[in-house]
Amino acid sequence: MLESIHGAADPILTQAGFKIVRHKGSLEGEALESALAVATLIGIRSKTDLRSETLRRHPHLAAIGCFCIGTNQVDLAAAEANGCAVFNSPFSNTRSVAEMTVAEAVCLFRRLFEKSGQLHGGRWDKSAANSHEVRGRTLGIVGYGHIGSQVSVLAESLGMRVIFFDIARKLPLGNAQSRPSLDTLLAEADCVTLHVPETPQTAGMIGARELAKMKPGAMLINNARGSVVDVDALAAALKSGRVGGAAIDVFPSEPASAGDSFRSPLCDCPTAILTPHIGGSTEEAQESIAVEVAEKLVEFWSHGSTESSVNLPQVDLPILREGQLRILHVHRNVPGVLGTMHTLLAKAGININAEYLQSNPRTSYVILDVERFDDHRLLDAVAAMPATIRMRTVAG
Ligand code: NAI
Repeated sequence: MLESIHGAADPILTQAGFKIVRHKGSLEGEALESALAVATLIGIRSKTDLRSETLRRHPHLAAIGCFCIGTNQVDLAAAEANGCAVFNSPFSNTRSVAEMTVAEAVCLFRRLFEKSGQLHGGRWDKSAANSHEVRGRTLGIVGYGHIGSQVSVLAESLGMRVIFFDIARKLPLGNAQSRPSLDTLLAEADCVTLHVPETPQTAGMIGARELAKMKPGAMLINNARGSVVDVDALAAALKSGRVGGAAIDVFPSEPASAGDSFRSPLCDCPTAILTPHIGGSTEEAQESIAVEVAEKLVEFWSHGSTESSVNLPQVDLPILREGQLRILHVHRNVPGVLGTMHTLLAKAGININAEYLQSNPRTSYVILDVERFDDHRLLDAVAAMPATIRMRTVAG
């Protein structure tokens, strides 16, 4: 377990029989090689690179737990070629981002950061001008996925009116209403909050043209991805007062490490609340990530389940009955593999009680539940099939 993964993962893994070796930071080079050489599973966060050469040198590694959202630090194809499952935790910080978004809406409408900045500078300005309750204001949510829909619920509980725009058809929660286009939403919302993924379609989604479509003095929140908003255009709109205030957590270019310096055209805009990509960074989210990924690793190791794996075909498996043996077989997706397995088992007089299979164009994952048997030569024959990538068994 690398990179100070939250301790909530430990009891889950130890109860499943794992011995945990912890490293505080990320590892590379020799240190990473030595850690991998003795590991059945590895837990990392975003800073440990697991590239194809490394993974090829450690084909025994059964699974990789990315205790974070992203998985681009791992060569997923190389892991798949080894039959090594990769798991992550895509939604454990949803609530954290949603809470911060709603808090920022309140801060923007009350101008709390500006007032606080003035008072830190020794200026007492007790005025109600331009300060508003959020109650009754219209919040426009762009991207009504996991985070957007949570924001919707929280904002309504504060008395906000919620409208949203999404390219996919989404069930409106509570009293929220969908809008047919981004432009319609921009024209109607007192505060626009962005919760779309980074895609070619969302790059530059909010530029000078869109800012000009917003209601005069409306607020903008971007806790999604830096590429979505043109920050130069936003800085100009904030300075002119066309946009009343903004809360920005993500930037087109972000420093690599804590303590690095940061510059953005938004730094000169007092009506902008700027935060260093912390929308999902809470202790609660870290704990929830630790539990979710540790549980996925244990499910995979103990039962073979690859549900929500980001690289292997996904199979959700029931708990194995007592007295049964489960054969977990990852192979190249070529014709004839299942037929050969069936024949080998049938010739040995072994009945298959349950069979599960999922494939992608390259790789298949087949699981056979059979009565327990002791014929190691049979298992060796199954493992020796030319298409086999990896095989293991678990006993019920
Ligand atoms: P999600 O995948 O659950 O929801 C995204 C929604 O956006 C989907 O409903 C999708 O249909 C919609 N969408 C995609 N393209 C669109 C377009 N062109 N126009 C309108 N709607 C569009 O994603 P989730 O979990 O809600 O995350 C949203 C964003 O938040 C992502 O960019 C993610 O990277 C970011 N995020 C930021 C964090 C932070 O620390 N600030 C932490 C976690 C996530």
